[in-house]
Amino acid sequence: MAQSNKPVAFITGGSRGIGFGCAKQLATLGFDIAINGMRDESDIAEPIEALKALGANVLYCQGDIGSAQARDSMLAKIKGHYGKLNVLVNNAGVAPKERKDILEASEESFDYVVGTNVKGPYFLSQAVANWMIQQKSKDINGGFYTIINVGSISATVASVNRGEYCIAKSGIAMMTTLFAARLGEYDIPVYEIRPGVTKTDMTSGVTDKYDALIEDGLCVTKRWGFPEDIGKAVGSLAEGNFSYSTGQVIMVDGGLTLPRL
Ligand SMILES: NC(=O)c1ccc[n+]([C@@H]2O[C@H](COP(=O)([O-])OP(=O)(O)OC[C@H]3O[C@@H](n4cnc5c(N)ncnc54)[C@H](OP(=O)(O)O)[C@@H]3O)[C@@H](O)[C@H]2O)c1
Repeated sequence: MAQSNKPVAFITGGSRGIGFGCAKQLATLGFDIAINGMRDESDIAEPIEALKALGANVLYCQGDIGSAQARDSMLAKIKGHYGKLNVLVNNAGVAPKERKDILEASEESFDYVVGTNVKGPYFLSQAVANWMIQQKSKDINGGFYTIINVGSISATVASVNRGEYCIAKSGIAMMTTLFAARLGEYDIPVYEIRPGVTKTDMTSGVTDKYDALIEDGLCVTKRWGFPEDIGKAVGSLAEGNFSYSTGQVIMVDGGLTLPRL
């Protein structure tokens, strides 16, 4: 087991995009890091080295967040390596493989997106919450514990060509409320970070579309969001700066969803 007094953060989908932005910020703030993803460890040597260079111990837990067996083995690996977990960032997520109108989109795509984006984080949160409660009851670390869910403006902004994604993200909103309500008695706050249009691989296929929309005033802050914008918000929550704000949604969308005339 790794010998370190640092708190530990587990970021699903932490080797690129928004998850990597969160992992870098948490490593900078003094957390040891566990990240998850689908790719082989040999393919993510670069981000792992970058996190180590920030002073963190880093553990990689490969596996599909939608699979119960994979979730079990990720948590077993973290327990074996660090023996504790203070912060879970439910970030891993997928877009539909093909954007299709809701009058045509397939059940297969619904199962894939909802299975990865809601079912996975929901049951991972269940397992992690039980482990956090155990840790708190033994007062092993006396530290701060929290669960942070990466949702999306798609929880409330309808895109009729990716309905399954919107439904999944509205599910993340209720998942945040549910776990915040349930974990209150243990003083484990649960939050949702709700990003807007963010520059990552997920949005690389729609760059021109959003460049034009942003130029036209889509966001109040006239630029794309970057993974670092979300990382800074996650870091602040993970440090306990909002410990009396459980269940809240923190918008990181450049004002995209502000009602305007
Ligand atoms: N980009 C945006 O504009 C935007 C806006 C709002 C919300 N979000 C949300 O932010 C989160 C991160 O998005 P992103 O833009 O950073 O996406 P991304 O660049 O496509 O990265 C997705 C990450 O999730 C991992 N992942 C995908 N499916 C997985 C699975 N089944 N099991 C485990 N890991 C899996 C990937 O692992 P590998 O690297 O191993 O493939 C990757 O690390 C998602 O929940 C997304 O819905 C994104």
